[in-house]
Amino acid sequence: MDKRLDPKKLPQHLAVIMDGNGRWAKQRMLRRIVGHQKGVETVRVIVEECSRLGIGYLTLFAFSAENWLRPKAEVKALMTLLKQYIRAETGRMMQNDIRFNVIGNRGDLPPDIDREIQSTIDKTSGNKGMLLTLALSYGSRQEMVSAARKLATEAAAGRLDPASIDERAFGASLFTVGIPDPDLLIRTSGEMRISNFLLWQLAYAELYFTDVNWPDFDREELMRAFRDFQSRERRFGMTSEQLGQLPA
Ligand code: FPP
Repeated sequence: MDKRLDPKKLPQHLAVIMDGNGRWAKQRMLRRIVGHQKGVETVRVIVEECSRLGIGYLTLFAFSAENWLRPKAEVKALMTLLKQYIRAETGRMMQNDIRFNVIGNRGDLPPDIDREIQSTIDKTSGNKGMLLTLALSYGSRQEMVSAARKLATEAAAGRLDPASIDERAFGASLFTVGIPDPDLLIRTSGEMRISNFLLWQLAYAELYFTDVNWPDFDREELMRAFRDFQSRERRFGMTSEQLGQLPA
């Protein structure tokens, strides 16, 4: 562990927008898919490091609901990489006590990939370490609309009193039910956007942007992000003085 990091003040939930695979490849006159392949290696490194550091929850934006609009060949290549990743990493998830999870519209995914996902979710379901969540065919607005629809259906059927719908009930209707909100969001490649990722859940997250492209993001870059996170004061709408008076 980096001596400049306080192990007690690491984020409990880290969310990552892994961006810049295409630009990484372009800068090297390589095909975009080579950038994605290199991006998968980074995923392996970061998953392993977060699990080793005792991070409770790691959520990676691997494929957005809008990414289906990319050229067919790129979508196909990404799906193949995803399948290979899940298949190849299940053993390592077992070794590292990692529980696997997916959020997003799984019904949009090719059936063979969905089966692979279910098999890994089932195999790792008894693990007690980090929860690794991949956001696949995920869009936060779609997630919130679907939550609203679920609650409205329950209310219309007389099973739910509309007056009882509060933040907790809404949060419990999202894909992320049971997962604490992210404390830190990292986005690579210099873009400063949230891009329809966890809009509800990121309400109080610290945001960290780095110019490094995802294939070049490594342990050292992760430590840099954690050091930056530890230097911030999270006030959740309160004053610094009030925070000083809270029980530790
Ligand atoms: C952004 O790069 C990245 C993605 C669209 C997907 C992220 C995918 C991976 C890291 C590989 C597959 C993941 C797993 C978990 C197996 P970009 O193509 O948008 O880059 P650009 O903005 O430079 O074009």
